[in-house]
This record gives sequence, C-alpha cells and structure tokens, in this order.
Amino acid sequence: MVANWKSHKSRDEAVHYMDDLQDAISTYVATDALKYRAVICPPASLLMYVSNRLLDRVAFADVTLGVQDLSPYPSGAYTGALSTRNLDGFGVRYAILGHSERRRYFAETSAMVAQKVEQALEGGITPIVCVDADEIAEQATALDDEHKQRIIVAYEPHEYIGTGVTQGVDEILQEVARIKDVFGDVQVLYGASVNPETMRELTGHDEIAGFLVGSASLDAKMFAQMLV
Ligand code: PGA
Repeated sequence: MVANWKSHKSRDEAVHYMDDLQDAISTYVATDALKYRAVICPPASLLMYVSNRLLDRVAFADVTLGVQDLSPYPSGAYTGALSTRNLDGFGVRYAILGHSERRRYFAETSAMVAQKVEQALEGGITPIVCVDADEIAEQATALDDEHKQRIIVAYEPHEYIGTGVTQGVDEILQEVARIKDVFGDVQVLYGASVNPETMRELTGHDEIAGFLVGSASLDAKMFAQMLV
C-alpha cells in the first residue's frame, strides 16, 4: 500500500502524521501483522523526518520509505536533481516513477522514466513504474528486458485520479492482464481514487497486488484503515 503525499504537507504536518499513524497501527501490530506492507512517499524535503521515525519505531516494522521521483542521472553536476546517492542512509526502498502528473506537468517521457528505472535499480531501489492504458506498450518497450523483471507496475487511469471514483473492476483487471502480457510476471498495483470505501470492491483479486493511494493517504487514520 503506497502512500503518495505528492507535494502536500509541511514539516510539522509530517511529524504529526507519523505520530497519528503510529497510534493507529500500534493497536493492530500488537495482535496481528498488517494486511499490507506500507510504503510512505513524502516530498523529498520531508524524507528525513519520516525516515527518522520509521527507523526508530517497532510499530513501523511493516512500513518503509519511498520517493516520488528520482534523477535520470547519477550523482553529479545536475542541479536540483535527487540521485540515489543523496538518499543513502534514509532507508528508501521504493521510487514512484513516471507518475501521470510528472508526465503531464514536467514533460516526462517513457524514455526518461527508463533512465530513472536504471538509476533506481543501480542504487538498490525498487521502481514503481506508473502507466496509464495508452502507455503500457510504449513504457514496456522503453525498458531494458532485464530491468522489466525487477520493477513493480502501478496501473493508474488518469481520468479517475482524484475523483473519488475508481475504474470498474472488470476494466482494471483487463488492463492488469495487458500489463502482465507486455511486462511479464510483474506485481501490479492499482491507483486512482482508492480509499477505505472504494477499496472494498477491489480487494480479493490476486491480480491486484496492492494500491497506490494519493488523497486518502494524506490522513494517517484513513491510511491506517487501509492497511489492516
Ligand atoms: P488519488 O491519487 O488517490 O488522489 O486519486 C492517486 C495517484 O495520483 O496516484
């Protein structure tokens, strides 16, 4: 269960969130494991605060850290970019790459995403590559065959993002099958308007390995509800 905070939250809000999340999940971890492993992807400036909490607390045994983007280049003279070297020591395990908002507002192409995938894998970070229906073939072609086997794919129909309504299960499963056809045997997440309510319809299908959650992940209690 991947929490994508996008560019929400201040430092104080991030710290309070982690307190609230710990409270909300500690009741469960005392008795049982969480149903989903969680990955929190805060904005880069807040990584340190989230990381400190995650590394510290027993309650967060099933919670790890991710980033929302990465540099397509290695560490070096690339002003403003975030390289895997910059992330050393923070415990970052995942990187969301090629999100539709990156493609739309930052002109990111599938070729650039492929470069970022390479950087992530070289740095020991698992890429979560986002694709909409019309990017499935193009993104798969842009990736190295060997890299394709080492990623997670998030199917994200952009017209459903932030609407409160998910795509129909049958359509989702169709696209997931198409993704597995071209990417191979990858884990596929679904993302777009997943919340505790909408999620009910979408669980119980083995083909959907988990979810990428935007708006509903911003509230710690709501996010915790989706983990148990
Ligand atoms: P949403 O965002 O959950 O707010 O629809 C999902 C996403 O953009 O990944």
